[in-house]
Amino acid sequence: MLSRLSILFMMIGSLHGAGILLDAAVPSNNFQKPAFCHDLDCPVYSVLETNDKFEMRRYAPSVWVATDIVTMVYSKQQSSEMFWKLFHYIAGNNTAGAKIDMTAPVVDEIIHGPGPDCESNFTKHFMVPYVYTNMPPQPTESSVYIRHIPEMTLYVRSYGGFSNDDSKRENLVTLSEDLMKANKQFRDDIFYTAGYDSPYSFVRHNEIWLVAK
Ligand SMILES: *[C@@H]1O[C@H](CO)[C@@H](O)[C@H](O)[C@H]1NC(C)=O
Ligand SMILES: *[C@@H]1O[C@H](CO)[C@@H](O)[C@H](O)[C@H]1NC(C)=O
Repeated sequence: MLSRLSILFMMIGSLHGAGILLDAAVPSNNFQKPAFCHDLDCPVYSVLETNDKFEMRRYAPSVWVATDIVTMVYSKQQSSEMFWKLFHYIAGNNTAGAKIDMTAPVVDEIIHGPGPDCESNFTKHFMVPYVYTNMPPQPTESSVYIRHIPEMTLYVRSYGGFSNDDSKRENLVTLSEDLMKANKQFRDDIFYTAGYDSPYSFVRHNEIWLVAK
C-alpha cells in the first residue's frame, strides 16, 4: 500500500513543467474566502470536488516570496531561519522598503531527490498580498526570490492541531492512500504542507497538498 508513497519520497521532479504563466488572480466576487484564512489575503481557488476525506481544488496563478534549501534533514532550525528570511522581506527588506501584510498560508514545497544521500529540496513560501500581485517589491536578500506559481490542481487534506513532522507524515500517508482508493492520479515526486495560523493560535488549520495529474 505504501509503495506508491515511497516513490514520492524517492523520486525527483520539478514544478516548472509545462505550466503557462498567467496573470495572478485577484479575487473576484465569486471567491468565497474560507474562514481559515481569517482576515488575511490567501490564494484564490475553486473547489472541483469534495468529500469527507479530501478536497480537489483548482488554484489560480499566484505570486509568492520564497527561499529554498537542498538538504537531507530539514530541521526545525532551518525551517525557522527560512521563515525569518521571508518575514524580514515583508518587514521591509525589499526594494520598495515596504511593510507588507502577512498572508496565509505559509507553504512548504518538498521535492524528494533520488540518490544515496537522498537530499531533498525544501522551499518555503509566503503569498504576496493581492495589492502587490502585479508588481511585487524585489527582495534585497539574495537567497530570497519572487516566484510565480501557475494554475494548479491539488488534492487537499485538512487537519487541526499543532502540526509537526509526525502529523505531516501521517496526513500525507492518509491522503495518498485515500487518493489511491478513489483511483485518483497524483504526482508522486512532490508534496506541499500549508499552515494558516500564527504560533499562538489554539484553533489551527493545516493542510497537505498533492498535485493532481
Ligand atoms: C534587512 O537586512 C539587513 C542585512 O541583512 C539587516 O541588517 C536588517 O535588519 C534587515 N531588516 C529587516 C527589516 O529585516
Ligand atoms: C528548489 O526548488 C525551487 C522551487 O521549485 C527552485 O526554484 C530551486 O531552484 C530549487 N533548488 C535547487 C537547488 O534545485
